[in-house]
Amino acid sequence: MSLQDFVRRLDELTEEDYSILSIMERNLSKFREVPYELILKAVKFSETKLERGLAKLHYLGLIWSPKGKKMAYILNYLGLDALALRTLSSKGIVSGLGVPIGVGKEADVYDAISREGTRLAVKFFRIGRPSFKKYERVRESLIKAHNYLEASIRAAYMEFKALSMLAGKVPVPIPVYRTRHVVVTELFEGIELASLSKLEDAEGVLLKIIEAIKSAYEVGVVHRDLSAYNVLVRADGSIILIDWPQWVEIDHPQASFYLKRDVENILSFFARKWNVRKIPPKYEEIIGKLVKKSINI
Ligand SMILES: Nc1ncnc2c1ncn2[C@@H]1O[C@H](COP(=O)(O)OP(=O)(O)OP(=O)(O)O)[C@@H](O)[C@H]1O
Ligand SMILES: [Mg+2]
Repeated sequence: MSLQDFVRRLDELTEEDYSILSIMERNLSKFREVPYELILKAVKFSETKLERGLAKLHYLGLIWSPKGKKMAYILNYLGLDALALRTLSSKGIVSGLGVPIGVGKEADVYDAISREGTRLAVKFFRIGRPSFKKYERVRESLIKAHNYLEASIRAAYMEFKALSMLAGKVPVPIPVYRTRHVVVTELFEGIELASLSKLEDAEGVLLKIIEAIKSAYEVGVVHRDLSAYNVLVRADGSIILIDWPQWVEIDHPQASFYLKRDVENILSFFARKWNVRKIPPKYEEIIGKLVKKSINI
């Protein structure tokens, strides 16, 4: 079942169901499969209720019982989503979840609305889901964690940390809240730079991106996965840089390598797609200083 379908059935979950999910979550790093006996010991209700709850959660796809091991359960992404959604709702962060606005390789991003009526972007990390080659390097670095759910929780933690450091100094989505593998930010009504078919002032947009990379560097952060897919542009030419889980600090041994790669990705995109091959000397200088060597574009 997709998250969107599941959200419509969220009402079906009882307090008992959430307790089971919480127990599974608490044991995430201890067990790959949480033994039935352990869940039974931890719940504060009858075994009949537990069995009913497990059957329902299994049926809805929130947990999974590996074949041949009926007496142990694995928490699925949907189960962790349910816990996160409950927190977002009880804390009054999100009052309604809308449609998917970005189904990426490592995350699903949903449109949502806050209690105050502002629009939000809710990013559910989905590390480990079958994905494309070029994202493997990003994933590798995050999978020091025990399993994919934990890797996703760590990715969300890292992304929220970066956004909190950068907000107000660098154009990024304004961070609102983080729980588990979910990051909530304000919605930016823009389009991915990579998918624009028309761009009024391409050079101006490029310069804004360079400024943003520089400001992030001054805060101490290198993006490390910057591309035209991770820049959103609005009709008025304003931009934000998104998708920060893999960032590194500037004193990371490979920070300058990553920084150079980020800058080169952006420069070559603008050269190729928008034929911007020259930029004002001031910006050449900024880039030169940043990557400690001038780059031919
Ligand atoms: N704050 C936001 N406001 C508006 N749209 C957003 C926001 N954050 C993300 N999106 C949309 O969701 C898409 C995916 O977001 P993001 O790049 O953070 O996740 P991702 O899973 O890493 O995607 P991918 O793996 O495809 O790069 C973005 O390309 C953008 O279209
Ligand atoms: Mg992205």
